[in-house]
Amino acid sequence: MKSFYKAATTCLLIVSIFSGAVNAQATKFNIIPYPVKLVEGNGSFTISTKTTIGLPKGGKFRNEADQLNDLIKGGLGYKLKIAPNKLNHISFVYSDAITATEGYHLTISPQQITITAKDGAGAFMAIQTIRQLLPYGIETGIHASKFTLPALTIEDEPAYAWRGMHLDVSRHFFSIAYLKKFINVMSLYKMNKLHLHLTDDQGWRIEIKKYPKLTEEGAWRTFDKNDSACMKRAKDNPDFAIDKEHIIHRDGKTLYGGFYTQKQMKGLVAYAATRHIDIIPEIDMPGHMMAAINSYPFLTCNGENKWGTLFTKPICPCNESTFDFAENVFSEIMDIFPSKYIHIGGDEVDRSDWAKSDACKALMQHEGIKDLPALQSYFINRMEKFFNSKGRKLIGWDEIIEGGISSTAIVMYWRTWVPDAPIKAVKNGNQVIMTPGSPLYFDNVPDKNSIYNVYHFNPIPAGLTADEAKMIIGAQANIWTENIPSENRADYMYMPRMTALAELLWSNNTNDYDSYNTRLIQQFPRLDALNVHYRLPDIDGVLNNKVFIQSDTLKLNPPLKNLVIRYTTDGSIPQNNSPKLANLVINKTEVVKVAEFTPSGKRGDIYSINYQQQSLAEPESPASTQPGLKCNYYKAFFKETKFIEAAKPDSSFTSDQIAVPASVKAPSFAITYNGYINVPADGIYSFYLTCDDGGVLWIANTETVNNDGLHSAIEKNGQVALKKGLQKFKLDFIEGGGGFTLKLKYSKDGSVPKEVPASWFSN
Ligand code: ACM
Repeated sequence: MKSFYKAATTCLLIVSIFSGAVNAQATKFNIIPYPVKLVEGNGSFTISTKTTIGLPKGGKFRNEADQLNDLIKGGLGYKLKIAPNKLNHISFVYSDAITATEGYHLTISPQQITITAKDGAGAFMAIQTIRQLLPYGIETGIHASKFTLPALTIEDEPAYAWRGMHLDVSRHFFSIAYLKKFINVMSLYKMNKLHLHLTDDQGWRIEIKKYPKLTEEGAWRTFDKNDSACMKRAKDNPDFAIDKEHIIHRDGKTLYGGFYTQKQMKGLVAYAATRHIDIIPEIDMPGHMMAAINSYPFLTCNGENKWGTLFTKPICPCNESTFDFAENVFSEIMDIFPSKYIHIGGDEVDRSDWAKSDACKALMQHEGIKDLPALQSYFINRMEKFFNSKGRKLIGWDEIIEGGISSTAIVMYWRTWVPDAPIKAVKNGNQVIMTPGSPLYFDNVPDKNSIYNVYHFNPIPAGLTADEAKMIIGAQANIWTENIPSENRADYMYMPRMTALAELLWSNNTNDYDSYNTRLIQQFPRLDALNVHYRLPDIDGVLNNKVFIQSDTLKLNPPLKNLVIRYTTDGSIPQNNSPKLANLVINKTEVVKVAEFTPSGKRGDIYSINYQQQSLAEPESPASTQPGLKCNYYKAFFKETKFIEAAKPDSSFTSDQIAVPASVKAPSFAITYNGYINVPADGIYSFYLTCDDGGVLWIANTETVNNDGLHSAIEKNGQVALKKGLQKFKLDFIEGGGGFTLKLKYSKDGSVPKEVPASWFSN
């Protein structure tokens, strides 16, 4: 997956009538995702030794009562008795009046707690709400003699049925213990689908009894280039160290890897099921199969197993032996995973060898298959029939629609640069799960905008009717782990932004972002208790390149009261014993590194601030100018902007806007912008360049922002000292594939950043 293109049924029946009051209230009750309707009551309920739990006749909700009791045991040190209804009771009530799957009502009064649901999932979701109302200490065992819960009534149900997380356990391997922690955190936020990417070129991670070499050989590799890159980065950040737990020595070789036995995985499936989370296995084929082909070369058309131009060579859809293998593998997979959904991958297939194969030529002629995408569809459609014969539904990445697909397959959309793919799929009658690279690839390094972008993502693509929108069954964040070699790094990448996704998919109320942020901060102690190495909030007001004329004072406020900002000026990484940043006077060109630290010594992101002494740049006086910037367009792939210079432009145009023109459709290209910017007054200007992929901005012949390289949409910023008048402007931008983001804002004297006006540009 994602080997080249980096990382890239709404039915709210209950309408809140408290829209005016919800925000204030929503910050009081620290619940994420926030319930659809919450009415505050009077007083509180006390859980103590005397409290009992009551179940409906027939023992329904027993699993959920056990889950609640496990939590309460964390708090009180013992479990509550299951006993008939009486005062001081937590009562589970069955009601088919609750029509929504996973919906529940929760009433907390001073006398009793009532959890009403139709299904176990609904009762479980109510317990997660209660969990968040209990002190976070229950997560680790605080053993108080009693707890109080505020009186309230909640009516709640999810906006979307599919609230998913994905984890690639192939590129780097994650222990069963970690997966349990992951599932536990997912369940806390009412996420309900865990998609495990179990196989890929870099490792086969699930035992298949019929093909033992898949794991005996395919689960182990020598360190690859991603491992080496991680090892290099580990010097500055220990979270990049390769997890020693997954390194072995065999036959004189050091190998990385691991796999899950079927027994272990069945245990994990059961653990998830008690938390109402389905585990969806992905066995990615026909591409991304190198780990399997190494041991079973008969799977390819020509016996070769290597990388093509972009992706590895796939298995051969033209030999019956391939189908025998695939069906045997999936039969064992279905035995381990009871999920209604089974994921077959289907992405990034280099089909070129199929065209050369005699077997494929013969099959295509015999079956009337017109081209290679249709040949892939032949494979997927046959496998879907096999899945359906076992009562399962097939999911595939959105490439599966390219050659035509049955309307019963479920399409998982990821290719941001093919925006009409989910629309085509819906129009073809397919259900769709939205996982677009931006903002839902959580392997994209998070920055200060990531949570906002997730929270404000609209799972329904523009252009669908209300009825068609029902085919979008939800969304999911994906975590590809090429650059995520440790559990701490994985935690950092998905938390806390998963909480924004959870609220989006459950509550679907994007008006509540401020209250969400307030509630999020209150979640941190619980995440600490759960040992989640989440990303700390950003330090506000940090610029990558800062400019001063005489001197400057660096003063930054920690985003939370309990965090401390520390700094260095000798190029080293700030440590827990580095000096605290107060008012640091800067009077020479130097690099200041700052980072925030929690009371336990956990370090947040490291910010490098490059201080430069400048004098105000003199303006230019060209003989004549015309409006707009001169732009060159290059239809080619560039890894960095510096390579543009050697290329020849494919076309030229003038633009008064810094944005990718709508007419650009190529996956990889570059655009350069040249001319002048009309500066309205003397001063130090800050520029903010957000791009996917890279961009570099020069003003007055000075590199002002460097946001170069292949990456997701991130903002970098910098300052430059300018005199009023026309100043030289140059911006180089590259797009490697998929993102298409390019934005430039400016500010002066601490003003709110805004877009550079079109009238400022000339050439
Ligand atoms: C993918 O990222 N190749 C689905």
